[in-house]
Amino acid sequence: MGNKINIAIDGYSSCGKGTLAKELAKKLNYVFIDSGAMYRAVTLFLMNHNIDVLNEEAVENQLALISLEFKQSVIKDRYEIHLNGENVDAEIRELRVASKVSEVAKISAVRKKLVEMQQLIGAQKGVVMDGRDIGTVVFPTAELKIFMTASSEVRAERRYKEMIAAGKEVSFDDVRQNLMDRDNLDSSRDDSPLTLNDSYHVLDNSNLTPQEQFDLAMSWVQELLD
Ligand code: CDP
Repeated sequence: MGNKINIAIDGYSSCGKGTLAKELAKKLNYVFIDSGAMYRAVTLFLMNHNIDVLNEEAVENQLALISLEFKQSVIKDRYEIHLNGENVDAEIRELRVASKVSEVAKISAVRKKLVEMQQLIGAQKGVVMDGRDIGTVVFPTAELKIFMTASSEVRAERRYKEMIAAGKEVSFDDVRQNLMDRDNLDSSRDDSPLTLNDSYHVLDNSNLTPQEQFDLAMSWVQELLD
């Protein structure tokens, strides 16, 4: 496996993009970047500073004050996001952040800042990045692009269990509603909407085990690396 490639994984909210991206990165010894964590961290900053996320100009004025960094966590064997030096990797997963993040992600100035950071990270190759616009905007020439999807019931169930396991007090209906709202906003926005084209492999994992999903994706990787 001499030549490194970039792998872009896009798709709907909570359909297992992160799980697959993490496993691929581990197997290939690549870097995994959760681009959604960056949008969530910007949202958390705005909320902490009482900025109205619907006020684009106010949001834009804050961007120079936001510094993001992924740092390796020794305990958890993964990269965690730090916002202005503070580890916010757990806090950004809360529903209160999820309820605002898609409004923030609509704003072009926010996207421009984060896409520039993502492209810098990917310039060296050997990156697996998941998000909504990775194969269309961030790395349009990525060697492998995967579009993941699953039924909305399956996705809501998975995310609800994940949040309960993380000790969060949430209701199933709120979780499901948030996924639907985000999918609508992410697919309909003007700047870099969630979409796919012929260059993607589509992976519907509603009825696949994590192992089956991993094997399928690895078979696409092998075709490129052989
Ligand atoms: O983990 P989950 O699928 O629920 O979402 P995420 O990847 O953490 O992304 C959170 C939100 O950030 C999405 O709903 C999008 O609004 C935004 N996002 C985006 O616009 N572009 C990306 N490349 C990644 C995330």
